[in-house]
Amino acid sequence: MNKEFRDSLLRSFDEPPSRIKTDCVKWDKRLHKFGREDIIPLWVADMDFAAPAAVREALQHRLSHGIYGYTFRTRGYIESVVNWLSRRYQWKVSVRDLIFYPPGTVAAVNMLVNLLTQPEDEVIVQVPSYPPLMNIVRNNNRRLIENPLVLTDNGYKMDLELLESQVSDKTKLLILCSPHNPTGRVWSKETLAELARICLRHNIKVVSDEIHADLTRPGIKHCHFNALPQSERPSSVTIISTCKSFNLAGLPQSTLICDDQNLRKKIQQQVDNSQVNLDSLFVAIATEAAYSQGEEWLDCLREYLYENRTYLESFLKDNIPKIRLLPAQGTYLAWLDCRALGLPNAQLQDIFIHQAKVGLYDGLDFGRGGEGFFRLNFACSRSLLDKALNQIKTAIDKL
Ligand SMILES: Cc1ncc(COP(=O)(O)O)c(C=O)c1O
Repeated sequence: MNKEFRDSLLRSFDEPPSRIKTDCVKWDKRLHKFGREDIIPLWVADMDFAAPAAVREALQHRLSHGIYGYTFRTRGYIESVVNWLSRRYQWKVSVRDLIFYPPGTVAAVNMLVNLLTQPEDEVIVQVPSYPPLMNIVRNNNRRLIENPLVLTDNGYKMDLELLESQVSDKTKLLILCSPHNPTGRVWSKETLAELARICLRHNIKVVSDEIHADLTRPGIKHCHFNALPQSERPSSVTIISTCKSFNLAGLPQSTLICDDQNLRKKIQQQVDNSQVNLDSLFVAIATEAAYSQGEEWLDCLREYLYENRTYLESFLKDNIPKIRLLPAQGTYLAWLDCRALGLPNAQLQDIFIHQAKVGLYDGLDFGRGGEGFFRLNFACSRSLLDKALNQIKTAIDKL
């Protein structure tokens, strides 16, 4: 990467535009979420950074035309997805296996849970978990089987023996979160292969939410569930998105990848039956620009995020040793172990909000395993992160 270009990107992460009064949830809903406006918001999972210039330019170019009528999926859009997976992950996906689902990843998981299971069927989710994945199961009258992740000195790992023991003849689906939100764990190919074998043995389908796939630490590579050999895994759907990678959450979209012909037909039929228009003009333009021209931006972003994470880790070690950052390999989310402070979450949240004036995500919202934990989103400028950490330190020092 050209040094000048790289330096200008890093500068842009250091000095992002203000998001205040842009109708963004993270900043403009602070009063609603935390009861006060003067909060440094490090909660909801989007970034404070502008999307890559190529994405902005492509959108601006199309916007200036002025007519935004019905559209269709172009060859360029479809190929940008296939090429992204091939170039970045050496995963050769057939165009035939793709289903574009602009309503977003959560909407896709919801649609798949309804399609692949019946009321009262059991669905496994590994906890702690991104809340909507559990809510979808409960809201659709399916039975949630919580498979607890195990905390070790090296971060979280799966307890696959326990998972297999939790399976019954009612267990029909596993919703995988890979990389994992909130822990930031990037699952190894070996772990995924072992999980796949168990699911194959018990005929449990897998829906794999891989929205954070592109945001691994430099040097760490994500393995897509559906990239495992087809004969060694159950019928499964991998969901990818540009939402997190390029900070496009306001342009909801997702791409489903399914190489099981029968299942794919079923999904396609469900999508067709719903009569929802799945061709979204600006989503297509942003996705194509991001996947075909956003690669250098993304790699630079990953460096910046990694440095933020390293900064966060050493700040906590040096200044707030009772809050521990757990080892992780991806996402811009830090899962903070605050148990050594010996306070219940409600009291900790009160301190974070009213004394530190920092908005974190309460671990209790992530289900079992969230007690004593808070999630911090470090996808912001380093100076803002530093300010937030110093405010937390001052508040904790007073305890
Ligand atoms: C694991 C995971 N899945 C899905 C989503 C949301 O996806 P979407 O906005 O496309 O529904 C998030 C957002 O934080 C997430 O972390």
